[in-house]
Amino acid sequence: MTVPTPFGVRIAGTGSSVPDGVLTNADLESMVDTSDEWIVKRTGIRERRICDRAAGEGAFGLECDAIRKALDAAEMDPGELDLLIVGSLTSEMRCPSNACRISEAIGAAPAGAFDLNAACCGYVYSLNIAESLIRSGRHRAIGVIGCDVLSPYIDYEERTVSILFGDAAGAAVLVRDDEHPERGCIYQKIEANGSGWESLYMPRREEDIPPNAPPTEVRLGNLRMNGREVYKFAVKKFQEVIEDALESTGLGVDDISQFICHQSNIRIIQSAKEKIGLPDEKVYINIDKYGNSSAGSVALCLDQVTRAGKINPGDHVVIVAFGAGMTWASSVWKM
Ligand code: COA
Repeated sequence: MTVPTPFGVRIAGTGSSVPDGVLTNADLESMVDTSDEWIVKRTGIRERRICDRAAGEGAFGLECDAIRKALDAAEMDPGELDLLIVGSLTSEMRCPSNACRISEAIGAAPAGAFDLNAACCGYVYSLNIAESLIRSGRHRAIGVIGCDVLSPYIDYEERTVSILFGDAAGAAVLVRDDEHPERGCIYQKIEANGSGWESLYMPRREEDIPPNAPPTEVRLGNLRMNGREVYKFAVKKFQEVIEDALESTGLGVDDISQFICHQSNIRIIQSAKEKIGLPDEKVYINIDKYGNSSAGSVALCLDQVTRAGKINPGDHVVIVAFGAGMTWASSVWKM
């Protein structure tokens, strides 16, 4: 739980960015042995956005666009940021971090800047860490970006992984709120367990592949997944993290205005909805249009929900994600 401070933390603005390129289920039907009917029934996905690498599109561009929109919404100057955190596993280079390049590109330097890799949990991990740093009194304004451009790491000749993922970025600007100490993240969890890592991984070399790995057609360097194992983990973990967030804060479903969940598979979200009893109007869904955009997913949802006017000052919002690692995270906010 949050240690009380004489100031709160406010999400001053959000933004998001997706590429224009659309990859539909019909497109995938012409690339691999699959069908629109199978994909919609098993995942809820109808289309996803994909960067055009030949046109120079990628994570860096989407990230710059998303944080600029978040700063505009916050009516803030980039120079007011004192830190920039980018939750992503797909920064263009291993070194430097995209955060450093973005900070320079938008005019936020000399704000501190770093990338954080927690796979699909990258944004929720980053959001929680940023909030905690402001709470500590050491920072006043932090830009948080969640983005993944996984399309260059997807083998589009293989059907189990290629149908799931899309590219997207979302961002938020967090600021210290001296007027409202009650605002901010009232409960958060960032956890991981590496024991199941081989269910979802991206080997660079033969040596990275565990000896007991099942045979796959996915090429080296691309994302490999044991869909059934990830599914079992996710269904259990989603229910657990939402119930933990509610029990730990003493809040009931009626007290929450929105549950913002990582968009991995509509059936995983439906399962948590049914088991916990979450009403449709409180669980935002955009997986049909964007697929699973990894660390971009929750960030994109938060921006879309905010811009749709579904979150008002004083509302309680529960944000949850899980991802490769395996990682999971929750963040409960009083907005
Ligand atoms: N199109 C058509 N058929 C497909 C297919 C595709 N794209 N992918 C798999 N199949 C086939 C399988 O070969 C299998 O055929 P069989 O019964 O003849 O052996 C059948 O469909 C069922 O496969 P299965 O793997 O059991 O399907 P599923 O219901 O578990 O759905 C996933 C597969 C990947 C959609 C599902 O497991 C999932 O969403 N897992 C979690 C993935 C995830 O969230 N990853 C990101 C984490 S952040």
